Amino acid sequence: MVCGSRVAVIGAGSVGATISYALLIQKISSEIILVDIVDEIVKGQVLDLSDANFISSTQVRNGTYQEAGQCDIIIITAGAKQKPSETRVELIERNYKILDNVIKSMQPIKPSAILLLVANPVDILTYIAQKLSGLPKHQVIGSGTFLDSARLRLRIASELGVAENAVHAYVLGEHGDSQIIAWSSAHVGGKKLLDFPELRNVDKDKVAKEISGKAYEIIKLKGATYFGIAGCVSSLVQCIILNQKHVRPLSTFIEEYGCVLSMPVVLGSNGIEKIIEIHLDSDEKAKLKQSAISLKEVCDKYVK
Ligand SMILES: NC(=O)c1ccc[n+]([C@@H]2O[C@H](COP(=O)([O-])OP(=O)(O)OC[C@H]3O[C@@H](n4cnc5c(N)ncnc54)[C@H](O)[C@@H]3O)[C@@H](O)[C@H]2O)c1
Repeated sequence: MVCGSRVAVIGAGSVGATISYALLIQKISSEIILVDIVDEIVKGQVLDLSDANFISSTQVRNGTYQEAGQCDIIIITAGAKQKPSETRVELIERNYKILDNVIKSMQPIKPSAILLLVANPVDILTYIAQKLSGLPKHQVIGSGTFLDSARLRLRIASELGVAENAVHAYVLGEHGDSQIIAWSSAHVGGKKLLDFPELRNVDKDKVAKEISGKAYEIIKLKGATYFGIAGCVSSLVQCIILNQKHVRPLSTFIEEYGCVLSMPVVLGSNGIEKIIEIHLDSDEKAKLKQSAISLKEVCDKYVK
């Protein structure tokens, strides 16, 4: 644990509470401040989380938007979640207003704070938060396709019989239906993934559908997803606090496309330190461009 580091989690629903629990178990920060518009929810979550305090040195308490605005890392999960078969983009009307309200209520935000967007549609909300927060773009990040990439790596790892962390493969673009898999640059042990005989008979389009559809499947079965994203976010918080400079596919502003989408980036204590220009074949590039165009269309409606 890094002494004195404070993390705020805005939105104490399933995702916010599970992220808080993952942070608590990992003993990454000194303090977690939970904020929710519904008093009973946040009080209940804090009481419940305090029962796990004996396994951690991290203190959890409820707080105000103003206190959250002064934290080192501010995680935004506040917002409506997808109903079965609803797309993430369809959440924008409801979640734009919530984000606008949350950011205004936190002002003035600590100038060195990292804003980590999790609520959906995460790419569009990250773009909006970059405009509304007043923070430099590299400090306003979305969890993006980190979760989708983890799902992909798990799928490939089981196909090849290797550990997940031996698989270097990314889902890029939108954290949503137009995401793409960068098959051409994926590798394991320095060998191109597409050169593995085990991959020859794998239907790549089917895998892509499986990965982008996994959230829909979970939501259909149990109403919400939260464990995977909590694992992703707690590891991102660790990476920021410990300045680990891991390469992660995260929502960031891409100059070439004029919008926010996921690309591999180097993450450290100042936020995004570098965007890695990954090799894509022409088909992947065209799909990524299409993903960017559809994201930009929605962004332009909300922020000029
Ligand atoms: N990025 C990802 O990979 C990922 C994964 C899972 C879920 N999500 C998204 O996370 C969001 C939250 O999902 P959930 O399952 O926790 O939903 P939830 O309904 O359980 O919780 C949302 C919480 O936000 C609170 N809230 C609403 N307006 C607020 C405001 N102005 N200030 C503070 N709190 C406010 C609600 O009271 C509620 O407690 C959704 O948008 C969902 O789509 C993203």
